[in-house]
Amino acid sequence: MERTFLMVKPDGVQRNLIGEIVARFEKKGFQLVGGKLMLITRELAEQHYGEHKERPFFGELVDFITSGPVFAMVWEGENVIATARLMMGATNPKESAPGTIRGDYAVTVGKNIIHGSDSPESAVREIGLFFKEEELVSYTKLINEWTN
Ligand code: TYD
Ligand code: MG
Repeated sequence: MERTFLMVKPDGVQRNLIGEIVARFEKKGFQLVGGKLMLITRELAEQHYGEHKERPFFGELVDFITSGPVFAMVWEGENVIATARLMMGATNPKESAPGTIRGDYAVTVGKNIIHGSDSPESAVREIGLFFKEEELVSYTKLINEWTN
């Protein structure tokens, strides 16, 4: 089953949006297989956002993501990587549709509430950066026949 890495960023945690965000993915029919509140070190932030290290916003991005606790999660389900990106909305909240997480709760690109892996390769890499295998719990939901 496909897995993705999702993370409520420091702004989402400060704004009490952890529960709302978890609820959206649960209600959609995806399954939480790992989650933790944590502080991100600069080293981990620079690895996680390594693809952006030459971009002008990189310093601010690392400052922001290390500025307070985040809620890191792994979610599982059919096509969860692409579907979670759709549910998050466009990177820049000015362009993210109402009904998406960023469309409903964010205003500026610097504080856009949630991170989600953008491809199967990113998902494997990011899950490995944030979680040990033994922190992930796969289990069968007895109601799966109703949701899938
Ligand atoms: P990116 O990977 O392009 O977006 P996404 O989070 O949708 O995968 O960028 C990573 C984060 O960097 C983004 O969520 C917010 C921040 N960012 C800026 O602050 N300014 C920018 O111009 C861009 C493109 C991103
Ligand atoms: Mg990205």
